[in-house]
Amino acid sequence: IKITIIDREGEAHVVDAPTDMNMNLMEVVRSFELAPEGTVGICGGMAMCASCQCYILNFEHMLPEQSIEEEDMLDQAFFVQDNSRLSCQIPITEELDGLEVKLAPEAP
Ligand code: FES
Repeated sequence: IKITIIDREGEAHVVDAPTDMNMNLMEVVRSFELAPEGTVGICGGMAMCASCQCYILNFEHMLPEQSIEEEDMLDQAFFVQDNSRLSCQIPITEELDGLEVKLAPEAP
């Protein structure tokens, strides 16, 4: 599926993300090297670091509900907006073809 990911410099990248590899959005960001090494996915996708925070620009209603863990982590994170999600908690599925997200700034 095609996903548009706006990096931390504001540059948009349209990537072709596989739906058959059990990937989440954080892993897509990492595999296409859309953020400097070691700045996204620090906890390995456990909803424990918020380094993978992104802003959802469309399809927000189609994403899985936030878990308690994700909500708690976002409560403590920097630069949180109403449309913030932890990208590691978003599995790549067919319905998300056309998803657009923006990476949140790196936490200070
Ligand atoms: Fe740590 Fe998503 S990778 S919260």
